[in-house]
Amino acid sequence: MCGIVGAVAERNVVEILLEGLKRLEYRGYDSAGVALLQSDGNLTRIRRTGKVQELADAVANSEALGSTGIAHTRWATHGGVTEANAHPHFSSERVAVVHNGIIENYVSLRNQLTEKGYRFTSDTDTETIAHTVHEELKSGKNLLNAVQSAVNTFHGAYGTVIMDKEDPSRVVVARSGSPLVIGLGLGENFIASDQMALLPVTRRFIFLEEGDVAEITRRTVDIFDKHGAPVEREVVESNIEHDAGDKGGYRHYMLKEIHEQPTVVRNALQQRITETGLAPDVFGEGADAIFKQVKHVQIIACGTSYHAGMTARYWLEQYANVSCNVEIASEFRYRKSVVHPNSLLITISQSGETADTLAALRLAKESGYMSSLTICNVPGSSLVRESDLAFMTRAGAEIGVASTKAFTTQLTAFLMLTLALGKENGMLESDESGIVAALHSLPAKLEETLAITNGIEDLAEEFADKNHSLFLGRGDQYPIAMEGALKLKEISYIHAEAYASGELKHGPLALIDDEMPVIVVAPNNELLEKLKSNVEEVRARGGIMYVFADKDAAFEGDESMRVINVPHCDSPIAPIIYTLPLQLLSYYVALIKGTDVDQPRNLAKSVTVE
Ligand code: G6P
Repeated sequence: MCGIVGAVAERNVVEILLEGLKRLEYRGYDSAGVALLQSDGNLTRIRRTGKVQELADAVANSEALGSTGIAHTRWATHGGVTEANAHPHFSSERVAVVHNGIIENYVSLRNQLTEKGYRFTSDTDTETIAHTVHEELKSGKNLLNAVQSAVNTFHGAYGTVIMDKEDPSRVVVARSGSPLVIGLGLGENFIASDQMALLPVTRRFIFLEEGDVAEITRRTVDIFDKHGAPVEREVVESNIEHDAGDKGGYRHYMLKEIHEQPTVVRNALQQRITETGLAPDVFGEGADAIFKQVKHVQIIACGTSYHAGMTARYWLEQYANVSCNVEIASEFRYRKSVVHPNSLLITISQSGETADTLAALRLAKESGYMSSLTICNVPGSSLVRESDLAFMTRAGAEIGVASTKAFTTQLTAFLMLTLALGKENGMLESDESGIVAALHSLPAKLEETLAITNGIEDLAEEFADKNHSLFLGRGDQYPIAMEGALKLKEISYIHAEAYASGELKHGPLALIDDEMPVIVVAPNNELLEKLKSNVEEVRARGGIMYVFADKDAAFEGDESMRVINVPHCDSPIAPIIYTLPLQLLSYYVALIKGTDVDQPRNLAKSVTVE
């Protein structure tokens, strides 16, 4: 979603800002802009719709340079994708603002500011920040105090960075609901919405807390909490790889990340499972004592992470004897739900910053859950900091908007959690040893599965001109069918729906014809015969099927059915294994269709507004 980069330095910061924006491109955006306080005292701004490169070209053709600057990639919420709506927004050619989030009361603020004589040049909510701060400056306050007063009038979510032409030595930043991280340099300091943006210039970061306002100069960083009291926040040394942004020879980040899965799953398991079971306290200090008391699990997540949660429900109930509910965060947070006794709340998130998931966690913390655990890929993220327990998935930076390796490491984490909770709830020894053995075999099985790529490329050719598709699965493969459908629609823009195949008769059979491919995931498990009956139902109605099946599942391909053999694997890891061919299918379909695989239209990597 929107990205922010800012810098206060002695040197010209233009390249730092543009490089930062490029490193945030993966998050999804539709326009970009930069504002600089020039050495001649002027405030200058360049904005473009489209890619950051277009902005960079425009900047290169200009004289723009400055040692204090802010930059932004915008993902439109209020107001269309136009240059006038792109950030930074100005007030009276004096104040410049970039903002992530939504100012919910912008209409009333806009009316009040218009009455005071401010003229709005965009349709955005953000412009109200610029004018409100300007109004406060007019009353004689310095920039810090002006921002502190202004934020009291905002409802909603913001991560915002503000510059004042009259005071070029500093930027003031405020965080409420949208993440901001300060990067500490030598004689220069930085701000960004994501540490990835600043890795070329520093590895030392301060993550701002909710309600913080900070004043950043070249040599100082002063942070104030939501009550205005000065606070110290921990300085964290980042261990994220600097070049996590490289495609490593692959055509797209998504393909690179698909192929990284054997390695990152191996990392996720490292020192966490032994030959016979789970190592102690892998979910953090005190986790085992908490797990002893857990009688119910409530999982909350969005998007792909939600599908990981849905899969986990099958495992937790089947193997660990723990009852489990799974809910989309945006639903959970706006309804009254009953908290079961001894409930563990689990959030799942690649980014750790998804606004709805974070809000759901905060709500749940006040609702009587015994404890909270996050399964997350970003150390230091808001979910990690605000949860009682955090389990890192170790997938490494995921750049492609469509999540791949983050998902399979989340599933790997949930199999380990199944072991941990099962141990306290009478898990069968055979299940425990079965899961442990399956986990040991997982990285190699993933490698074997990636080798079936060629067949999938051919299949994608047949697929690419279709407008609709149906994904079918049963049991713990139903969420995998959902994830397969999500991947296809995200990056190829083909309408895709997933059904639990037992539901076919209750509606989707009416859609079957030779124009709607049906994709089936068919491991060799106890539901195979049931699934085969569903396949016959489709065949009898002239449907065209693509079946990803265990080689021992005895599917016979014919005119109406293409069978793609998937290596045999143990049941507990089958959902992880069957995810890969579906990822590859959507990737190759998108490639043939020529869509923007890594940054699909209208989507964002990290959804920091609700
Ligand atoms: C966006 C991303 C998805 C992701 C979802 C949840 O929609 O495009 O890839 O699954 O957000 O994000 P999270 O970071 O919480 O896993």
